[in-house]
Order: sequence, then structure tokens, then C-alpha cells
Amino acid sequence: MMPEPMRLVVAVSGNGTTLQNLIDRIAAGRLCARIVGVISSRGDAFGVQRAQTAGLPVVVLRRRDFPTLQAFSDAFFAQCRQWHAELVCLAGFLQKLQIPPDFVQRVLNIHPSLLPAFGGQGMYGHFVHEAVLRTGVSETGCTVHWVDDEYDHGPILLQKRVPVLPDDTPERLAHRVFRAECEAYPEAIEWVIQQHRQQGTPTPFSGPTQGS
Ligand code: GAR
Repeated sequence: MMPEPMRLVVAVSGNGTTLQNLIDRIAAGRLCARIVGVISSRGDAFGVQRAQTAGLPVVVLRRRDFPTLQAFSDAFFAQCRQWHAELVCLAGFLQKLQIPPDFVQRVLNIHPSLLPAFGGQGMYGHFVHEAVLRTGVSETGCTVHWVDDEYDHGPILLQKRVPVLPDDTPERLAHRVFRAECEAYPEAIEWVIQQHRQQGTPTPFSGPTQGS
């Protein structure tokens, strides 16, 4: 019998390239998961259009419509429960969340650097790659980690390393890192699925880190 696909909620704030990668992987039969809903923190995010094109349910939750971070997080996870999410994947989602007890180690994030380097508030997208180039490091990469109540923090599941080349621009570097992200996120999710099958529950995890 085919195993049941894991029920994912994907959260976006922007372009949705990470969401698209997951949609494509699932459609190609390369990830045993089902996206049961998409939460966007912006109504005008291109990620919303990508979700609609793929026929996925979308809910927009804007931080400014909630008086407190707690109220925003409550609405976010109430929606996840309504969709019976087993795993939440942040995909370029730029809002902080307070993780309720039933979602501890059930929320994943991908970040375009080797955390803890180049993480934290304001460190997203091109800002990360610009900072990497300014610093002059010879290596960067991406990190998949469990989300806790701090930005870009929480136990690391997997990292992939990417070289920084002498003639890199932020765009070129972003492209190279994103290629690594497209492998790292599905790999990490697949690992969670395997753990879930073995243990009957997606918690607790503290997966191995690895190079590219
Ligand atoms: C990805 O590079 C992801 O690592 C980054 O946003 C990009 C995806 O955006 N996330 C962060 O920087 C989180 N701190 P998109 O899916 O909207 O294109």
C-alpha cells in the first residue's frame, strides 16, 4: 500500500519560488507530501498566484491586522490545525511566529546562508548575499532548521555548502545558493517524513547536518 502523503502547510511572503519548487517536486512524484494549504503574509505576493495556479487553498494573514504577535500566531496555527497540517514549511515567510506547544518541531524554515552566520531580523533574500560578499567569506550555503520563537534560530536539520566565487554578484550567488536550496528543502522534508513513519510522530527531531 502506498504511504499517505504528509500534509504540508507552506507559508510565503514574496515570490514563492520555494513554494513552486515544492509544488513541482510533489507533482513529479519526488516528494511524498501534499500541500493542504498556503498562508501568505501579503495579499499581493506572487506566491499567492503560484498557489492559486496550482489549485491550492490560500489564506492571507497580514501581521498588521492583528494587535499582537501572539494574536497573529494564534490565527496562523488555528488555520494550520483547520487544514490538519502535519508539517509547516516556511518558504520565504518573513514574519516572526510564536510556536505553540503542539507545533514545536513541526515548523521548518529554509534560510540562504550557513546559519548562524548571516541570519536574524532583516537578513533575507538579497540582503544575505550582499552581506556574504561584503564580508569576503569563501563559502556560503543554505540551512534547513526547526523554527523556534527567534528569527533564523532553532535546531539545524541540514546544511548545504556553496562556494563564493571571485567574480560573484549578489544575483549570481543567490542563483547558486537557490539551486542548493531546491535540493536541501525536499531532502529535509523527506527526512522528516521518514522519521514520522518510523516513530509515528514528527517530534522530536535533531537531524544530521551535511555538506553538498
Ligand atoms: C529563499 O532563498 C529562502 O531561503 C529565503 O527566501 C527565499 C525564497 O523566497 N528565506 C529567507 O531569507 C528567510 N529568512 P521566495 O520563495 O519568496 O522566492
